[in-house]
Amino acid sequence: MAFFKKSAGKKPDPAQLDLERLPRHVAIIMDGNGRWAKKRGLPRTAGHAAGAETFRTIATYAKNLGMDYLTVYAFSTENWKRPEQEVSAIMGLLEKYLHESIETMARDKIKMAFLGDLSPLSPKLQQLCRETEEISKGYEGFQANICLNYGGRDEIVRAAKAFAAQCAAGTADPAALTEEAFGRYLYSADIPDPDLIIRPSGEVRISNFLLWQSAYAEFYFTDVLWPDFSKEEFNRALAAYQNRSRRFGGV
Ligand code: IPE
Ligand code: IPE
Ligand code: MG
Repeated sequence: MAFFKKSAGKKPDPAQLDLERLPRHVAIIMDGNGRWAKKRGLPRTAGHAAGAETFRTIATYAKNLGMDYLTVYAFSTENWKRPEQEVSAIMGLLEKYLHESIETMARDKIKMAFLGDLSPLSPKLQQLCRETEEISKGYEGFQANICLNYGGRDEIVRAAKAFAAQCAAGTADPAALTEEAFGRYLYSADIPDPDLIIRPSGEVRISNFLLWQSAYAEFYFTDVLWPDFSKEEFNRALAAYQNRSRRFGGV
C-alpha cells in the first residue's frame, strides 16, 4: 500500500460528518490515472487499473455511509482520441471489472446502471453491461452509475432528437415541453440531479460531464490523483459540502 500516500491537508474526522445531511447523489470525474502511473514510471494502464480499485473502495464506502447514488465518469465521448492501445486497455479493464462485479454484486447488493451510448463498445462489453444491469435491477438502497462513452452534449442532442422524432410522429407536443419532461429523455431519467460533483487531479473543469444535471450541483476540486483518492479524501469532500449554503437562486 506504499503507493497510497499523498493526501493534502489535515486528516478529516468522519465523526464530524452529519450523516443526516449527506448528499443524496455524488458524482465523480475519476481523473489523474495517467499522471499517477507516470509519477511511478508505470504504464498509463497501471494507473487505470489502480483507479478501478479506487472506484470499488469508494463505491462500497458511499453505500455504507447511506448515500443513494454515486455516478462516476469512466470514459468520455472524447476519450476515443487517445491512442488505440490505451483505449483497448481501458475497455479490457472494464470487461475484467464487470466480470468480477457480477460475482460480487449479489454480496454487496450494489445496483449498477450505465449512462452513455454503449453501441460503439464491443458486443462482449455491451452484453456484460446489460447483464450487470439485469442482475442488479432488483437491488434497492444504493445505485452506482457508470458513465461510459458518455458526453453531456451528446446526451442533450440525443434527447432533443428523440423528442423531435416524437413531435414529428405526433406523439409529443413542443408547446408542452417542460424542463422536467425533457429530463426524462436523458440517460439520467429517474435519477435525481447530483448534489456534489468531485474532480480530483487538479484540473478545474467539467470536461463534458453531466452538463444538464449539474445546474445546481456543489463542486469540490482536489489535487489528489484518482488512484490516491481515499475514504478520508471523500470525507473531506463531504465535510466541505456540508459547509456550503445551497440557495438554488433563492435567499
Ligand atoms: C482518467 O484518467 C481516466 C480516463 C479518462 C479514462 P486520465 O487517463 O485522464 O489521467 P490523466 O489525466 O492523464 O492523469
Ligand atoms: C474526463 O477526464 C473524463 C474521465 C475522467 C472519464 P479527461 O482526462 O478525459 O479530461 P480532460 O481531457 O483533462 O479535460
Ligand atoms: Mg485526465
